[in-house]
Parts: sequence; structure tokens; C-alpha cells
Amino acid sequence: MSVRRPWTERGVPWEGPALRRTREILCAGARERTLEVGVGDGANLRYYPPQVRLTAIDPDSAALAAARKRAEELGLVARFAEGDARSLDFSDESFETVVCTLALSAIDGQEEALREMYRVLVPGGRLLAAERIGHTRFPARLWERRRENPRRAPREVAAEAGFRVGHHDRLFFGTVERMVAHRP
Ligand SMILES: C[S@@+](CC[C@H](N)C(=O)[O-])C[C@H]1O[C@@H](n2cnc3c(N)ncnc32)[C@H](O)[C@@H]1O
Repeated sequence: MSVRRPWTERGVPWEGPALRRTREILCAGARERTLEVGVGDGANLRYYPPQVRLTAIDPDSAALAAARKRAEELGLVARFAEGDARSLDFSDESFETVVCTLALSAIDGQEEALREMYRVLVPGGRLLAAERIGHTRFPARLWERRRENPRRAPREVAAEAGFRVGHHDRLFFGTVERMVAHRP
């Protein structure tokens, strides 16, 4: 039986040229040992530079199977594992890059997830992320204020976890934040 999951867990309905370009730009910054957190069905895989050694995790086994298939089709060698961003099964300082796109908002516990990403990055390692944020523009921001748990900007949560946030900007009418941060 197929279970209908909310769209926030399935991907984005508006995946189009702008989002594809965002993926391309972020993934081009990946270096050496790279961990993708919440890989889903692998929409980023085609954009990684060939020299990247990729490990990708997601708690959803069906999504991981789709990502594995996509990697095979692309001829990409990568390691896939079921895992939870809030408790990463990797040693401290074991990756040069962490990539996370549109997954933080699906994780119940962004703060823990960002602390874990910090832990597994080497000093100087980079976090490359794009994430949905709360609506900041009128009139949608009025609706946002009524949410029980208003969504936080990932760059604020990343800074609390110890990251130095470098470039950040907003896309899609201010609803997605793109961020490059590093572990000092
Ligand atoms: C909207 S999809 C995004 C997938 C992919 N990153 C992309 O950019 O298309 C959100 C993903 O986050 C994953 N996710 C949810 N909770 C998670 C957790 N605790 N740890 C890691 N990934 C999680 C979901 O299984 C899902 O694959």
C-alpha cells in the first residue's frame, strides 16, 4: 500500500531551473569527503564534482533506494546509509563538506542536526545548505506568525551551533535561504 507523505517530505513541487541551478552551485563547492544529510531520492547527485567522495544518509529507505538507483545511472560511486541527522553515525571531524538541501525543515530538531553537522566536519570544513524558511514578506508573514512553531532561519541555528556563516541569500520570493558556513 502506498502511503501519501506530506509534500515537505517528498520534495518540492516547484523544482525548476532556479532550484536546479541552486543545487548545481552548492554542490560545486563540495570537496573531498562529503556527507549529504537527508539525501532523499538524490536530486543533488548529478551536480557533485567527480573527485568528491560522497556518503549520503536519509532515514527513509525507499528514498535511499531511489538515490542508489540514480547514482548507478549516473555512474557515481557513493556510500548510502540509513541515518538520522540528529545522531550521525560518523566520527568527529570525518568530512570536509556537509551538504543539506531542503531537509532541515523536515527534521524535528534542527538544532541537534546542526550540532551534529558541526561535529563531523573538520575545522575549516564547510556546510552548504539551502532551506525553506518562514515567510518574511507581507501578506504571508501574517500567516507565518500564527504557526505554533515559527520556522527559524538556518543561518541563525547554524551560528548557534558554532558555524561561521559566510555567504547567504534568499530565493523563491524569500522562502528559501541558501547558506555557506564553515567550522572555524
Ligand atoms: C524535502 S526532502 C529533500 C530531499 C533532498 N535533500 C532534496 O534536496 O531534494 C526532505 C528529506 O529529509 C529527510 N529527513 C527527514 N527527517 C530526517 C532526519 N531526522 N535526518 C535526516 N534526514 C531526514 C526525509 O526523509 C527526506 O528525504
